[in-house]
Amino acid sequence: MSLHKDIKRVTTHVLQEMKSQNEKISMLTAYDFSIAKIVDQAGIDVILVGDSASNVMAGHETTLPITLDQMIYHAASVIRAINRSLVVVDLPFGNYQGDSREALRSAIRIMKEAEAHAVKLEGGRQVVESVERILSAGIPVMGHLGLTPQSIYKFGTYTVRAREEEEANALIEDALLLQKTGCFAIILEKIPAKLASLIAEKLDIPVIGIGAGGGVDGQVLVLHDMLGITQEFSPRFLRRYHNLHQEIYNACSSFKKDVKSEDFPNSKEQY
Ligand code: KIV
Repeated sequence: MSLHKDIKRVTTHVLQEMKSQNEKISMLTAYDFSIAKIVDQAGIDVILVGDSASNVMAGHETTLPITLDQMIYHAASVIRAINRSLVVVDLPFGNYQGDSREALRSAIRIMKEAEAHAVKLEGGRQVVESVERILSAGIPVMGHLGLTPQSIYKFGTYTVRAREEEEANALIEDALLLQKTGCFAIILEKIPAKLASLIAEKLDIPVIGIGAGGGVDGQVLVLHDMLGITQEFSPRFLRRYHNLHQEIYNACSSFKKDVKSEDFPNSKEQY
């Protein structure tokens, strides 16, 4: 059910209303103008300019190498395309951890240069000072807990997080702390569905899951994964809505065949 399909702009306030009215929030990544335009037109509530751009756009193995300038470039391209969606931009690794003043400077650059609507950062208690300082400038912040890809070298694995009681309790505390600090929503990545649904119940702010089951307030996926452009990444939580890899491959092969056989361009396809 979509109570909010007619609203002109999704805001953090609208997301909050969706949670209170039990309307699930839809969220997808986008990193460029043309794709963002389609995602926005499809009525997706939140577009995440994720640092997953480091993987799917730039081909890096992790999200760590992407820079603030590169994130701003992607975010500005997305912002130029959208009419309705709320656009949240990831603060990249190294631009907010350990120095809340730098966190604020980075967030301001994203808001000013890309004209984004909100920022997202990973972590709980370790980043609370940064969250507080960014919020003090009136910039909405989304949290991200559970599997946090910017810390992949610390964990050494992409397996499900917070299966053990101690880690689960720490995660609940972090979620409550992010809410108390003023985050407008949080993402929970790759944690047990029961734990995610418990956190969504405990929190008043929207909880959006990726690999966190159906008991949360919304779902996010990386667009390139759900469209089947990426092939090598296939965790259990990923539903593929298309096999775009195959479609693009087929189109490229047909083009090549037509060029080689001199079938393209034909007499109508020229001046
Ligand atoms: O960068 C990203 O795409 C993300 C999602 C996985 C939530 O943070």
